[in-house]
Amino acid sequence: MRPDSALPSPAPDALAHSRKLTALIRERIEAAGGWISFADFMEMALYAPALGYYAAGATNFGQAGDFTTAPELSPLFAQCLAIEAAPIMAIAPAILEVGAGSGRLAVDLLRALETLNALPERYEILEISADLRARQQEKLALEIPHLSGRIFWRDGLPERFSGLVLANEVLDAMPVSCVLWPEGGRDGVVLERGVTWQNPKGQEPEGFVWQTRPATDRLLEAALAIAERYPLPSGYMSEVGLPASDWSAAWGGILERGLLLLIDYGFPGREYYLPERREGTLFCHYRHRAHADPFFLPGLQDITAHVDFTAIIEAAYPAGLELLGYTSQARFLINCGLLSRLSPQLASDDPARFQTAAAARKLIEPHEMGEIFKVMALGKGLAAPLIGFSSGDKSHTL
Ligand SMILES: C[S@@+](CC[C@H](N)C(=O)[O-])C[C@H]1O[C@@H](n2cnc3c(N)ncnc32)[C@H](O)[C@@H]1O
Repeated sequence: MRPDSALPSPAPDALAHSRKLTALIRERIEAAGGWISFADFMEMALYAPALGYYAAGATNFGQAGDFTTAPELSPLFAQCLAIEAAPIMAIAPAILEVGAGSGRLAVDLLRALETLNALPERYEILEISADLRARQQEKLALEIPHLSGRIFWRDGLPERFSGLVLANEVLDAMPVSCVLWPEGGRDGVVLERGVTWQNPKGQEPEGFVWQTRPATDRLLEAALAIAERYPLPSGYMSEVGLPASDWSAAWGGILERGLLLLIDYGFPGREYYLPERREGTLFCHYRHRAHADPFFLPGLQDITAHVDFTAIIEAAYPAGLELLGYTSQARFLINCGLLSRLSPQLASDDPARFQTAAAARKLIEPHEMGEIFKVMALGKGLAAPLIGFSSGDKSHTL
């Protein structure tokens, strides 16, 4: 599906930026002999230094950007997370936030933990985008200068970590492989959908186009396992997120004691690969419109895919992480006291209460973020049950 022509057009400098990234990806395709995997395309479109969507200076998050994440909607989100985080701070007082976006969650979570008298000794941020890191540093210095001695940025995953690891909408931003099962995998044939540059001789409009090749190695193995497990119709297309699975499994060797909270849109495998979801879950965000063309204005739009949470636990469990809970965002936030926190605000005459109510609705209503977003808790060495999963745990659905 091409994005509709009513999408706001980019400013000339943004367009020039996108053309630079397009040229860089095109060079990569040429150097690779005419074809790259979609995962490589997505990696460059989102993270190519100084040009990728998350690496350049665009305002991605919030009203002025392309999409709004839960922490940007309301501090209620961070306040609920603080309820889960506080008991962990008593035994391992460190937080590592991965992919901290604008820095909003860090500000609101630290404020909420301060109120609960449960501040971490260290709040570390792992941010692969140099531009976002600079924006986070600015926001945190401005909004919570008195806590700056506790906040640190890291360049990569730690070797060892104890405490709370938070990743809100990070797994969905990791590159995915795009797969086509021509006969639903029944004949053992799986194709990888990759990217080529259309018609370099110039007879057609130029641009990136899809081109398939036989899938190989790990992708072939994973795609055949999916076809064996879930009944896929002929011509089925979907995604396989190997980097998200590898990243989650890596924590098995890193986490000594503590909790990994993964918050993202996604489903268990059997729902992810439902026969009727025959074009997969890949989608793009540009100025608050969702569409399905990943080749539209490289560098100016977000590209994302839903998370297969069954694949995540199947990678993490053998690596030594325990599944401590899996539920919807709505259930998690309500278990952490969202409604009781909201009621006094609604009963007050604070003019902001209508805005707070609208944000809370977005966070928990089933047709907004409440059901499609899930919270998965993976951990090691934690005895007490987690508050966020005290009712409505859906681990059995994975
Ligand atoms: C959709 S944004 C979410 C930002 C923020 N967590 C929020 O909720 O507003 C995805 C973020 O994940 C970061 N990211 C993606 N892959 C990452 C990785 N492997 N390590 C660290 N950060 C990553 C991106 O740079 C970006 O900051």
